[in-house]
Amino acid sequence: MSDANRDALVIFGVTGDLAFKQIFPALQNLARRRRLEIPVLGVAREGWSLERLKERAKASLEQHGGGVDEHAFSQLCERLRYVPGDYRDPETFRRLRATLGAARAPLHYLAIAPSLFTEVVRQLDESGCARGAAVMIEKPLGRDLASAQALNESLRRVFDESQIFRIDHYLGKEPVQNLLYFRFANSFLEPLWNRDRVASVQITLAEAFGVESRGRLYEELGALRDVVQNHLLQVVALLAMEPPVAFESEALRNEKVKVLRAIRRAGGADLVLGQYEGYRTEEGVAADSVVETYAALRLGIETWRWAGVPFLVRTGKRLAATATEVYAALREPPQRLFGETLPANGNYLRFKLGPDRVATALGVRVKQPGEEIVGRSEELLMCDETMRSMSAYERLIGDALRGDQALFAREDTVEAAWALIDDLRGTARPPEPYRPGSWGPASAERLAADVGGWHNSVAGC
Ligand code: BG6
Repeated sequence: MSDANRDALVIFGVTGDLAFKQIFPALQNLARRRRLEIPVLGVAREGWSLERLKERAKASLEQHGGGVDEHAFSQLCERLRYVPGDYRDPETFRRLRATLGAARAPLHYLAIAPSLFTEVVRQLDESGCARGAAVMIEKPLGRDLASAQALNESLRRVFDESQIFRIDHYLGKEPVQNLLYFRFANSFLEPLWNRDRVASVQITLAEAFGVESRGRLYEELGALRDVVQNHLLQVVALLAMEPPVAFESEALRNEKVKVLRAIRRAGGADLVLGQYEGYRTEEGVAADSVVETYAALRLGIETWRWAGVPFLVRTGKRLAATATEVYAALREPPQRLFGETLPANGNYLRFKLGPDRVATALGVRVKQPGEEIVGRSEELLMCDETMRSMSAYERLIGDALRGDQALFAREDTVEAAWALIDDLRGTARPPEPYRPGSWGPASAERLAADVGGWHNSVAGC
């Protein structure tokens, strides 16, 4: 992990939605922790005054930042500058260079439409703003392998890989970090965490809400590109990776990419896509759209540790609950000593990753008190609120300012994930309709039929 400290933060798209919902709240928290003692330059097309931008920041904190912290906010305002201008106009970048003043190592955060990434990076280069700088970009990082490679190439023409920070906000989440910590900080887990003891692993990212105001954008994505290519495959990698040789960004990312490269499709019946009824009448959605709002996949990871263990990955909008969860079913004991009928998956490990709780649970069988030797299923549960902990964006922006890449996606990982998605999309059948409030299309059930069915997570712990 490099200890490069950035001397300015430049936010492209500072008047946009992401800045309003996530970035200003993160900046206020960073300022509160004295981690933002540098100029913050906003860039956007709107011809706003600095005062107007400050008002916008204030409204953002009121609505999404848990309120205005007067001290931290006034510090943020003191550091804030605004550079209005078109991203295609070299004059914008000349003004930016002038406003950067003495700063020689800025972090440029591109919170803008991906179609503008290449142009902005080129302009940063030509104006001298890229010299000594790092760049941070938001997903989607391409829409298939070829476009991801083209994007990576255009970034690499100007920035070294060590100066490129690709955000996957899942990696900044507390419960996702706990996966890594839990795996490698507990000695009891390692003997269990392999094909000998684990029967199957399920990862579900379920959302009860639909595409809301993002219909137009979502039409370009669909569930596979929106959350499987990035968030869910990153979670698969964290679960399946070998221990890194050190807690250090390259060591971690080296292990993760090996997992993504070892993923094999179960072949044939390994993918079910769905679309919720009513999606085609959402704003911005085509009346004959075949974009999937649900995807269920069955994958294998051909490594010494995981060969033969199905990894089932599922996501969908307008499902029965909003919950993200990992559920690893352990194998049955070798002998049914007590002659009872055991439920499917009496032993399991469960990691709740959201939306607002981190939970770690172990499913066990215990004896039912009484004369007979019969048991019941219980869960040993640890559950924490994460609402008041650091947000993913606060953590990620802070890490990028310090030059720590551990929680950012590396070029090879992104490309390996796209290769898999391209392969899946190439053979996908059109999405099947499903009822809002259900758990998706009925035919997804067969993907999990031999592992005791899908584990349908509920809200809370
Ligand atoms: C985003 C997707 O990347 O992740 C959204 O674009 C999705 O469609 C979101 O809802 C899920 O993230 P979180 O943090 O709300 O679980």
